[in-house]
Amino acid sequence: MTIEYLPLDASADTGVAVRVDHVNKRFRLYHERNQSLKSAIMRRRKSVYEDRWALRDVSFDVPRGSTFGLIGSNGSGKSTLLKCLTKIYWPESGTITATGRVAGLLEVGSGFHPELSGLENIYLNGSILGMSRKELDEKRDDIIEFAGVGAYIDQPVKNYSSGMYVRLGFAIAINVNPDILVVDEVLAVGDAEFQEKCRQKFADLKQQGRTVILVSHSMDLVTQMCDHAAWLQNGEVRAVGEAGPVIDGYLGFVGGGSR
Ligand SMILES: Nc1ncnc2c1ncn2[C@@H]1O[C@H](COP(=O)(O)OP(=O)(O)OP(=O)(O)O)[C@@H](O)[C@H]1O
Ligand SMILES: [Mg+2]
Repeated sequence: MTIEYLPLDASADTGVAVRVDHVNKRFRLYHERNQSLKSAIMRRRKSVYEDRWALRDVSFDVPRGSTFGLIGSNGSGKSTLLKCLTKIYWPESGTITATGRVAGLLEVGSGFHPELSGLENIYLNGSILGMSRKELDEKRDDIIEFAGVGAYIDQPVKNYSSGMYVRLGFAIAINVNPDILVVDEVLAVGDAEFQEKCRQKFADLKQQGRTVILVSHSMDLVTQMCDHAAWLQNGEVRAVGEAGPVIDGYLGFVGGGSR
């Protein structure tokens, strides 16, 4: 089981930005009848647990430069897969290889310190994502402008609305200049103007040959944005390939008709 980030070497590029190869991820759910430590010790029995395989033998390639949609019902494993890709979770077996710099926007507020101001979080989060102090000094104005949170940039982010969190997080993630940008749903909490701005940013990234992996429940958005897609169901890949047929397959399955 490995997750590997390889440097992007244009001359040796295989055309694959991310390779997911036979990935399995398990969550172990413990059924504790008694919650206290004392009673657990008194009981002196092994915990009872049940395994839930959130990803089962998942394999697919994300072509470099594609905008790749990851779709499927609630609980199908989309977020788990993105968290494996960004090394938040470690799979039980299988390999994920990402070629280039990866930046992700996963959950509202993840990576932010609530007591620090927006500006301080730009520096904190930016450095976690691999930007130097100098790079951040150069980019901070662009980040602040894209985030568009106005005077709130000097306020602790715990006072932000969900939309403001996402705007700031997205502004930082795209300014890292990632080769691979991973976005989980969160854009949906942004307003129409911000979503339009994101759409344009995705188009720019695509033009620069960068790769975007996008999780969404909006089939309109995926249809509009994505050229390739994978459909996960119950932790397994049901379809992968060009976006159109994959989306149609999923919509047919859920009985939502066609696009
Ligand atoms: N930390 C965890 N501990 C235990 N089970 C988990 C954990 N994270 C996810 N799961 C389980 O793994 C499965 C896949 O969850 P995941 O969050 O990847 O789904 P999803 O496709 O992102 O769903 P949604 O569309 O609702 O966001 C679910 O059954 C979920 O309950
Ligand atoms: Mg999810």
